[in-house]
Amino acid sequence: MKKKTVITISVSVAVVVVVAAAILLGIFVPVNGKMNDTEYWSEYDEFKIEDIPTIEVGDDGFTILQLTDLHYHLPHMTGQTDDIVEKLIEENDPDFIVLTGDTVYGPTNVMYSKHIAKLLDSFKIPWAIVYGNHDDEGKADKYWMGNVYENSEYSVYKNGPCNIGGTGNYAVNLTKNGQPFYSLIMMDSNRETHYNGNKEYGSFTPSQVSWYGWLQQGLVDNGYDKSMMFFHIPFPEFQDAYDYWEQSGFDPSIGSGNKNEDVCSATYNPGMFNKILEKGATTHVFVGHDHVNDFTVNYQGVTLSYGVKSSRQFYYQEELLGGTVIKISPDAEVTIERKYLN
Ligand SMILES: [Fe+2]
Repeated sequence: MKKKTVITISVSVAVVVVVAAAILLGIFVPVNGKMNDTEYWSEYDEFKIEDIPTIEVGDDGFTILQLTDLHYHLPHMTGQTDDIVEKLIEENDPDFIVLTGDTVYGPTNVMYSKHIAKLLDSFKIPWAIVYGNHDDEGKADKYWMGNVYENSEYSVYKNGPCNIGGTGNYAVNLTKNGQPFYSLIMMDSNRETHYNGNKEYGSFTPSQVSWYGWLQQGLVDNGYDKSMMFFHIPFPEFQDAYDYWEQSGFDPSIGSGNKNEDVCSATYNPGMFNKILEKGATTHVFVGHDHVNDFTVNYQGVTLSYGVKSSRQFYYQEELLGGTVIKISPDAEVTIERKYLN
């Protein structure tokens, strides 16, 4: 009798250990997606405009809703975060939705990448997504999440070239009456940079700067002479832009919005902003990353703009929660409006 009890307890302990191990393995063992190994890019590649998907703009122009830093990871906050996303979409009736990074966060990124893809698809509106520094800190890597996003019905996401740095460097063209109108360029600003012996915030690689230059030149050569960019981590010129605005006495014709924390860029600067100036086609740059900054400044002819943080997951400021509505008028004039929840 006593021996039987010991055996029963031993079996029970073994079952608990096996189940616990299975759960831990299920959560923490990485899952890796397939990279698209056909997409090696070289600056000598021929640019093919037909490789870039197009969306036709209506007579009233084009409305983009930028959501950022949703940070899906807390089960008890999922419903509330979904409600915010739904409210912003329903109230602003966008033609296109773009999520500028840190959409998911932590070990549950497998579950929440599928969750957000399903939620966005339910609105039947084209959507794009870029990665932030936190998206791939969990079990799934960027290719795995990229496969989820690529296979979502209304997503325009592409993993993009596999050899330039980052994952999810891609573009979408807007046409009006079938003619070139605007380009939307999505890029991965990477998780971190190792520079001068220090680990810093993510920045573009030199290859990404070259790829952008090649892409932008190809677009211009095909009649797309205006573009806007979407990525997560601001480059250092966001601070320069803010300083310029501050020195103007916060001239409202130069900038607007709030700065309540540092511009958290890498100090390493591979020259993306200079490449933008050189090409002269990108009119606007939209980022996320710094949750309580949402300022917009026109700097050297380019509008540099933070998005409004869109959820109460991770740090936030209640009065600075919401989304950003970017309207491109039929004559290609762009207006930016912060849409706060409160
Ligand atoms: Fe974030």
